[in-house]
Parts: sequence; C-alpha cells; structure tokens
Amino acid sequence: MGKLEGKVAVITGAASGLGRASAVRFAAEGAGVVAADLNSQGGELLVSEIAAAGGRAVYQRTDVTSEQDIKTLIDRAVREYGRLDITYNNAGVIGATGSIETTTEAEWDKTFAILIKAVFFGIKHSVAPMRAAGGGSIISTASIAGLSGSFRLHAYSASKAAVINLTRTAAIELGKDKIRVNCICPGVISTPLVHGGIPGGKETLDPILGKAQPLQRAGQAEDIANMAMFLASDEANWITGAAMVVDGGFTAGTPFQLAGVEQQLSAGYSGPSFQR
Ligand SMILES: NC(=O)c1ccc[n+]([C@@H]2O[C@H](COP(=O)([O-])OP(=O)(O)OC[C@H]3O[C@@H](n4cnc5c(N)ncnc54)[C@H](O)[C@@H]3O)[C@@H](O)[C@H]2O)c1
Repeated sequence: MGKLEGKVAVITGAASGLGRASAVRFAAEGAGVVAADLNSQGGELLVSEIAAAGGRAVYQRTDVTSEQDIKTLIDRAVREYGRLDITYNNAGVIGATGSIETTTEAEWDKTFAILIKAVFFGIKHSVAPMRAAGGGSIISTASIAGLSGSFRLHAYSASKAAVINLTRTAAIELGKDKIRVNCICPGVISTPLVHGGIPGGKETLDPILGKAQPLQRAGQAEDIANMAMFLASDEANWITGAAMVVDGGFTAGTPFQLAGVEQQLSAGYSGPSFQR
C-alpha cells in the first residue's frame, strides 16, 4: 500500500522540474493528483505518463497569479476525487534578475505575484476543503535563497523569505484544524529552471553543480519530491510551520577543499595566534 493511498493532491508547476517529479511520486504512492501549470503540453504529457504507470492524475490549466484560477483548481480536486488532502504550492520562475537599480516595478510585481501571492491563494483556498476532510498538508516551495541573500536575485530571495514566514503564520492559525503547513528550501537543483537556456543544458550543468556543496553530486528533482512526499504523508503528522532544507549541505558552509584552501590548513592543534 502506498504512503498516500486514498489522499488527493493538488500540485502547481507540475509540468516540469520539482512539481513534475512530485506528481509522479505522489501518484506512485497512491494519491489522486490534480496537476496544474501554464504549460498545457507538459501537463497533459505528465498525466498520460502517470496513467500509463497505473496512477491517477488530471491536468488543470492554471495561472497561479489568478485567485480565480486557484479557486477553480481546488474545486476541480474536490469535484474529481471528492476531497482535498494535500496542496503543494510549487510553481515558480526566477523572475527579476540583475541590479536593484535597474529592476523595474513591473518585474518586481510579477516575481512576487508568482512566488508569494500565489502561495497565499493556494493556502487560502485549501483551508475549507481540508477542514471538511478533517485535516491536510499544505507544502510550498521556498528556497535556500529565502534563508540568506542571493547575488542579484533581489525579488526572488525576498519573496522566498516571505514564503517561509507565511508558512509559519499559517501553521499557527491552522493547527487547530489539523492542517499542517510546511515549506521546502531546496538548494540548487538540476531542473529546466536552472539549466534551460544553457548550451548543453543538464549535461553541461550537472558536473558543475556537483561541486557546489558537500554532497558532491547535482541535486535532482527527485531529492525534493522525497521531502514533499514525506511532508504530505501521515509520517509527518507532528510537523508544521517548518522550513525543511534539502540542499546537499550547501547551507552547512562551503567545504574548504571546494574553496581551494585545504592545503593551507595543517592537521593537528592550532593554538593562540601570537605563538604560531
Ligand atoms: N531548481 C532549483 O534550483 C530551485 C531551487 C530552489 C527553489 N526552487 C523553486 O522550485 C519551484 C519549482 O521550480 P523548478 O526548478 O521545478 O522549475 P521549472 O521551471 O522546471 O518548473 C516550474 C514550473 O512552474 C510553471 N509556472 C511558472 N509560472 C507559472 C504560473 N504563473 N502559473 C502556473 N505555472 C507556472 C512552469 O511552467 C514550470 O512548469 C519554484 O518555485 C522555484 O523557485 C527551485
């Protein structure tokens, strides 16, 4: 029996990357999935792959920046499968990049609409059906970029930090309804968001990403799907308000051998500097 047997999940950004891997995993664990994205071709392909593997999924075209679209998406889950247990607010873009001096208001607003306003809509409209189901699990994709600053990703980093604190404030309010609210802070993961547009794509980037953190392989979408699956499942039923870091050790600090200063550190005991 799968770990999500009998449960119903909505996943945004399901046509690609982390959302796609999570949709495949949730369905393999027995969930009925409503896959949402702007990319209908990718969404329909995902649904047919899940069906071919014996799982249950439907596609709902959704622009996560539209409150009406999110409401329609949640309604679809209830109409299709009779309940809602899991909402995974995951859709995203990199959004505004570059200097703070050249970032326009429109770029800033669009980034925030996709990365944080959509999460607010997703949480807001999940509450009633989850309360009716006796509880639920809401998951959102934040980022390690929400835990510290990121070079020239002002709007991205600020909006991901907001996802982390919205997770906490919603968790406080919804605990009484047995609705758990958590987010995931992925490190750098090899998805089209990161390798799209780079010559050679994933093949070029994976060896580079493999050196970026203590665990020396590129992070894969399945690494995040594993955490999403855990948070969605009853195994996480005393976890709420948490920001789960899944980053191969990136935020543990840069290993000295990666920084190229390993040789300068002699082994043994280093005493007071004036005696060295
Ligand atoms: N890949 C990484 O290194 C990484 C790291 C930390 C956090 N994240 C976050 O993970 C999430 C998923 O990213 P990914 O790496 O899988 O990227 P991806 O580009 O592979 O997938 C993102 C999906 O979101 C969809 N989407 C974008 N705007 C949308 C909108 N307005 N409405 C509906 N769907 C929309 C895209 O069509 C795409 O299918 C994002 O929130 C991203 O910020 C990614």
